[in-house]
Amino acid sequence: LKCFKITLLGTDYKHLTGQDYKAGCPPPENVVNQDNGAATDGIDEEDNVDPWNVSTSNAKGVDYDKLIVRFGSSKIETELVDRIEKVTGQKPHRFLRRGIFFSHRDMHQVLDAYEKNKSFYLYTGRGPSSEAMHVGHLIPFIFTKWLQDVFDIPLVIQLTDDEKYLWKDLAIEECHRFAVENAKDIIACGFDVNKTFIFSDFDYMGSSPEFYRNVVKIQKHVTYNQVKGIFGFTDSDCIGKISFPAIQAAPSFSNSFPQIFGGRKDVQCLIPCAIDQDPYFRMTRDVAPRIGYPKPALLHSSFFPALQGAQTKMSASDANSSIFLTDTPKQIKNKINKHAFSGGKDTIEEHRKFGGNPDVDVSFMYLTFFLDDDEQLEKIKQDYSSGALLTGELKKILIETLQPMIAQHQERRKQVTEETVKQFMTPRPLNFKL
Ligand code: TRP
Repeated sequence: LKCFKITLLGTDYKHLTGQDYKAGCPPPENVVNQDNGAATDGIDEEDNVDPWNVSTSNAKGVDYDKLIVRFGSSKIETELVDRIEKVTGQKPHRFLRRGIFFSHRDMHQVLDAYEKNKSFYLYTGRGPSSEAMHVGHLIPFIFTKWLQDVFDIPLVIQLTDDEKYLWKDLAIEECHRFAVENAKDIIACGFDVNKTFIFSDFDYMGSSPEFYRNVVKIQKHVTYNQVKGIFGFTDSDCIGKISFPAIQAAPSFSNSFPQIFGGRKDVQCLIPCAIDQDPYFRMTRDVAPRIGYPKPALLHSSFFPALQGAQTKMSASDANSSIFLTDTPKQIKNKINKHAFSGGKDTIEEHRKFGGNPDVDVSFMYLTFFLDDDEQLEKIKQDYSSGALLTGELKKILIETLQPMIAQHQERRKQVTEETVKQFMTPRPLNFKL
């Protein structure tokens, strides 16, 4: 596994370099790429988090409070959740209520501006590495759909088929096909076609001069040293990988989408994503003021644990580590009964006497993601901890929560025609007021 390298990109450029940002000039050598050594300082040897790997030796999962310190982001405090409720007039999504989205950058500024009638847009994405998507992949999309609804704002979704071509042993055509197939699952989350643009990099990059100009601007203002520090690239990584971060950064700037924003470069961007994508956006936020653009704000989610336990995130390449969006009710039941790591005791007698541990129990963790009723969830937690609820019973509740959820997703996906996909993926104006 790669070790995560920490950089100081989040800190103030002038403070670090003693220079002002000069728009149009590449950064001087050897600045802002210092590795602050956190990984070797022993702050957190057990957690490994980067865009390609997530692992920890702790059964409860990654220590997210420590990650906030390492990444230099801010914790989503109750106060911020309350503020979102006040500003939108909507009950906060369970992902906010339960700390599943747990970290942010600049969310208070976004809300300040929104309160003054200055709107923003959403940007999220997916790397289409296979046709098979699992429930974990839906987390950012479920949340983004909620944000789109409560704020009533436009959304762009990047499908990085180019990234997957560069990183995996796949043909371009395959990656592109996965992008279109994945778009159907994304559309099935319920996005508003009048407010959403989904694009494949292979398609959109070549068709949009404005997008490509931003990519090259970013490429000019980030050095090899910097991306090496952030992503751990080595001399033997192909140059496609080394320059790819600029392509993931470009949608953070509104003038990459002239058909939507009419050439405006100052529309604030908010990116909901899993915390492992943060390196891309630390780089983006670092480069933004140097090329005259606002920094994107971020909302970070924790990882969706594998069935085997929270030490790692779900992987689409291991069929038994995940609940797939194509699984039948029977497969869902069997996988949970067979593979979901249990925090229960070995025998019923012991379980009744000592109770189970919901903190390491994967079925309970999944319910925190998908069971919306707070009171019911709390009761399950107490009953499981006291021993009143057995592991088999807990698993049954999860099975009965996921089966209809997945079935409904499959039903909605079936309704998504090639024509609908084309509509979402065609560059066009969107319907909104800024
Ligand atoms: N690199 C991401 C992945 O492999 C895909 C992605 C592109 C993305 N742009 C994004 C994810 C913006 C979140 C937000 O999944």
